[in-house]
Amino acid sequence: MSVRVVRTAAELRGFDGTIALVPTMGALHDGHVQLMKHARPLAETLVASIFVNPTQFAVGEDFSEYPRTWHEDLERCEEAGVDVVFAPEVATMYPHGLDDQVMVDPGPLGAILEGEQRPTHFRGVLTVVAKLFGLVRPDVAVFGEKDYQQLALIRLMAETLCLDVDVVGCPTVREADGLAMSSRNRYLTPDERTRAVALSQALDAGAAASADGPDAVRAAALARLADFGVEPDYVAVTSPDLGSPLHGAARLLIAARVGKPRLLDNRALTLGRAPEGS
Ligand code: PAJ
Repeated sequence: MSVRVVRTAAELRGFDGTIALVPTMGALHDGHVQLMKHARPLAETLVASIFVNPTQFAVGEDFSEYPRTWHEDLERCEEAGVDVVFAPEVATMYPHGLDDQVMVDPGPLGAILEGEQRPTHFRGVLTVVAKLFGLVRPDVAVFGEKDYQQLALIRLMAETLCLDVDVVGCPTVREADGLAMSSRNRYLTPDERTRAVALSQALDAGAAASADGPDAVRAAALARLADFGVEPDYVAVTSPDLGSPLHGAARLLIAARVGKPRLLDNRALTLGRAPEGS
C-alpha cells in the first residue's frame, strides 16, 4: 500500500508543493471517493483526513456508534489516489480538552435549517475544519454538496477569516434509485431503505414545480414525502447562498428521519418561468 498514514501535526510538515485536502469522518463510500478523485489533480499532494469529530455531535447523538471502518477506508483512499491519510487522535485536535476551547461561531447561517435542529453542530464542524486547515495548510479543500449548508458555511468561514484556502464543492453522488450516499445509510432496515428514496423523489417533484414558484415547490415536495409516509424536519426553498428565494437560481433542501437515521438531501432549482421566446 502506498498511502502514508500520519497521526501527528509534526509528521504533516515537509510536503513539497501544493496540497489538496478532503476532510472526512471515515466510513467511506463512493461519495467520498468522488471527492478524492476530484481533488487529485488540483494539487501535488492529496491529503484525506479521517477523524470522527466529537464536538459536532450533541449529547445523545451517534458519536460512539458512528461507523468506523478503518481498513476498508484505507483501501478506498489508496484506490482514489490519496497520498497521505491524516488520522489524528482526539488529543491532537483538542489539546485543551473538548469543553474549554476557542470555537468558531458560525453566525446566523449556522442557526437555520440544520442549525435549528442541531444548535451546536456547525460550531463543532467549523472548529474542526479550521483546525484541519491550520494543521494541513492546504491550498485547496474539497467538500460535498450533499451537506450543502456545511459547504456554504465552510466557504463563508474561509473567506471571512482570511484562511487562504480555495473551498471547492462537488456534486452529490447517489445510489441507482436516487438515494444520496451517506455513511448513515447502513443503519436503514430494508423497509426504511425503500422509503429513503422519498427524499430524492421529493427533490425531483419540487424541481418539476419550480416554474410556479417556491410555494409550489414546497407543496410538491411535501406531497411526495407524504406518499412514502416520511415526515420531514424541514423542506426549505432558499437562494443558492441559503437566503430568501427570489426567482431564478435557488436550492431545495430536505431533512427527514427515516427510522433511526436522519437523512439530508438537496438540489438546485430554477424558480419562475423562462421569458417568452427564450
Ligand atoms: P463526512 O460525513 O464523512 O463527509 C465528508 C465529506 O464527504 C463532506 O464534504 C460531505 O459533504 C461529503 N459527502 C458525503 N456524502 C456525499 C455524497 N453522497 N456525495 C458527495 N459528497 C458527499 O461532513 C463531514 O464528514 C464532517 O462534517 C467534516 C466536514 C469531515 C468535519 O468533521
